[in-house]
Amino acid sequence: MIPSLPFLSASSHLSSDAPSPAPGLLIVFEGMDGSGKSTQAKRLAGRLEGRGHPVLLTREPGGTSAGKKIREILLDPDLPLDPEAELFLFEADRVMHVKTVLLPALRSGKTVLSDRGSDATVAYQSFGAGLSREFVSALNRVALGGLVPDVTFLFDLPVAEMALRLRSRGDGPTRFELLGSDYFERVREGYLELARIHEGRTVVLDATSGPDLLEEQIFGELSRRYPERFVL
Ligand code: TYD
Repeated sequence: MIPSLPFLSASSHLSSDAPSPAPGLLIVFEGMDGSGKSTQAKRLAGRLEGRGHPVLLTREPGGTSAGKKIREILLDPDLPLDPEAELFLFEADRVMHVKTVLLPALRSGKTVLSDRGSDATVAYQSFGAGLSREFVSALNRVALGGLVPDVTFLFDLPVAEMALRLRSRGDGPTRFELLGSDYFERVREGYLELARIHEGRTVVLDATSGPDLLEEQIFGELSRRYPERFVL
């Protein structure tokens, strides 16, 4: 019998023994604020679309209608949130995203590019904000229902460089940008530890490289991993 969570049934992206693989591919872009991952996700989406490849570009938080409202709460610097309340909001966003956006797109064969995913919650809420790793991972598991990325690109950036980039962006400081460099040092270390644990699916990129080089590295990596899907 299919479990009560319908999305546990059939996908190659589910970590359980999936009976019939879904044809899509889930690629997640992770890294620090200002690391250039959103630019690269957009570039890859444009490149694939230009070749007529079915692609969906999405994000966490904010990849659904409900998620956009959740995102507004999360990013409002005038709205202080308890770290656990914040965690639940990220996971609520993720539940909606997984069930209503990611799984349908993967089942229809699309290459899904997500600007952030569950590794961010471990890096920011556990390593950064100090919430229990087990607790965060348990909530991630519930929200994901077994979904795991096929490839995660981690844009690694020194915190000093991150601070410079955010300052030169010129927009007002967000709640995350107000957290200070120690917080972001821990986030960076968290991401790098996750990359070591999940080395099979994670590609660590030097985010200080120029955007054209990064674009070629990303496409080259995908072509090596999936030669039939991504022809150089
Ligand atoms: P956003 O403006 O999207 O930043 P970026 O463009 O750099 O991705 O803001 C998202 C913020 O939310 C970012 O600081 C990272 C943070 N975040 C978490 O703390 N936990 C999470 O699980 C996710 C997905 C994001």
